[in-house]
Amino acid sequence: MKILENQQLQSYNTFMVPALCDRLVQIESEEEIPQLLAQDALEGPHLLLGGGSNMLFISDFHGTVVQVCTQGIRRVEEDARQVRLSVAAGVPWSDLVDFCIQNHYYGLENLVGIPGWVGSCPVQNIGAYGVEVKDVITKVEGYRIRSRMPFSLANAECRFGYRTSIFKTDWKGDVIISRVEFRLSKEEHFNLTYQGLRNELEQSGLPVTIESVAAVVKTVRDRKLPDITKIGCAGSFFKNPVIPVAERDRLLRQIPNLVSYPAGEGMAKLAAGQLIDLAGLKGVRRGNVGVYPQQALVLVNYGGAMGAEVYDFYLHVRQTVRERFGILLEAEVNQVGMR
Ligand code: EPU
Repeated sequence: MKILENQQLQSYNTFMVPALCDRLVQIESEEEIPQLLAQDALEGPHLLLGGGSNMLFISDFHGTVVQVCTQGIRRVEEDARQVRLSVAAGVPWSDLVDFCIQNHYYGLENLVGIPGWVGSCPVQNIGAYGVEVKDVITKVEGYRIRSRMPFSLANAECRFGYRTSIFKTDWKGDVIISRVEFRLSKEEHFNLTYQGLRNELEQSGLPVTIESVAAVVKTVRDRKLPDITKIGCAGSFFKNPVIPVAERDRLLRQIPNLVSYPAGEGMAKLAAGQLIDLAGLKGVRRGNVGVYPQQALVLVNYGGAMGAEVYDFYLHVRQTVRERFGILLEAEVNQVGMR
């Protein structure tokens, strides 16, 4: 394992804000995880970091940051209809999606273009265009930090929900994920429930193939989301709020074209982007930070921002939406450090 003392994390987070940590430990093989735990290295404050694409450092982090950088995509079982892949935590998400597209393994093509590493994908149950990663995960493996014991959780045990899982709730701060297992279909199979995707495919005139679906997803994404290699951001900063139907109906009187989706018994999911947009904040810039002009869910660092500046702006957006519509938005992005 590599241990870097007093490490600058600016190039380790896609918001590209500066933050120091006392120590960065980069795990290069799975056996190093129990070794690290045995050294009591994570007794104090610690943080698990993947590709840093869902993280806002509000200040320096006084503790140990661990990155599981292990590589490898293994076929563990395969028949004519499906394949199971066991993928190491440090594999970039985009490498896994490309691998599946090349091999015509169906299931991840709608999730093309999402940043981050495989080890983080179950934590917030990443999703886009009608697909969530929980639809294809069979198993998540790793270690509990406090007990130092290995764990292996089947899909149902991960308690996946919209942008959440056991790793973000009950087990938060107490796991190191080492690998994720996926079951993908070898038979042609697409999810075209997202209207915008269907429209785009129709307009392209292309036959529906794994390559064309992925290409169309990329087109739709590029239109609305910033290129994180060029502009500091962490995708959607906010979750779409899930509220009781009665409250949704109250809001419908205020916003007749309110976007809302069914979200289980008596609940409705709203589009946070629409609320921020209607609150007049889309494209608004304050200092080095702003609301992305093409998608109001995304906060951006136009260059030179400190994490605290992004954080203050997030509070401003949240407060404005609350005053205007009575809805308290919840951040999707993890926040680290103190204001
Ligand atoms: N909308 C606006 N103004 C905006 C943005 C959105 O009015 O500035 C409206 C749209 O017109 C649409 C609705 O809100 O009617 C929903 O918009 P969209 O389909 O673009 O999706 P989203 O709810 O804004 C979610 C995910 C994205 C994911 C897209 C596509 C969350 C927090 N975000 O965004 O995920 O790519 O759906 O499936 O659930 C991410 O998590 O980082 C992310 C980018």
